[in-house]
Amino acid sequence: MKTGKFITFEGCDGCGKSTQLRLLSEFLKESGVPHIFTREPGGGKISESIREILLNGKNTEMTDECEALLYAAARAQHLREIVEPALQAGKLVICDRYVDSSLAYQAYARGLGVEFVEKINAFALERYLPDLTVFIDLSPQDAFKRKNGADENDRLEQAGMAFHQKVYEGYQAIATEYPERVKRVDGKKTPQGIFEEVVKLLKEKQCL
Ligand code: TYD
Repeated sequence: MKTGKFITFEGCDGCGKSTQLRLLSEFLKESGVPHIFTREPGGGKISESIREILLNGKNTEMTDECEALLYAAARAQHLREIVEPALQAGKLVICDRYVDSSLAYQAYARGLGVEFVEKINAFALERYLPDLTVFIDLSPQDAFKRKNGADENDRLEQAGMAFHQKVYEGYQAIATEYPERVKRVDGKKTPQGIFEEVVKLLKEKQCL
């Protein structure tokens, strides 16, 4: 039985998630709320190893199915090892990306389809659905304009603008389908403006 609240952050690459997570980290430290920050893919030794395989620019021969299964495998490990114990200890869990990333990137953008991706992530969707998902809504065009010094070896960032546009459309579809859980925040606002929205959403879900 989970007791703490589970919050995830989503959006296109370069949408400003990292800035919001940093602001939230400072805020939570000051307010004394017991919490952990974690990320996907990764968060623990095994899932960080899977992350290295997934994001390694040299792995060009990786199939879409392999990619989707590795994200799901990293998630299974991460949930059991990091997320579940923290929730059971009553902590607020903040996770940088989660299953909606698999829906946006693998189901919509890679074209594997929602049915397949939901099936291989059923363990996560049935047992660990976030209490709140903050979707920072910024188009890839706007995101890339902002993102300086992108890592050229990142396999996913090599995928190009058409791919990221599909990711963005995927997120729009997800936000429309799950309006109770997935809350859009306008990514064009200032970092402070976005953060005010984030705090409001967390309060509405009784996380603070
Ligand atoms: P990262 O460098 O952490 O990107 P960001 O700072 O934008 O979160 O790399 C994570 C990448 O992995 C990102 O491009 C999205 C992708 N991803 C998927 O394709 N599927 C998934 O299920 C997850 C969790 C991430």
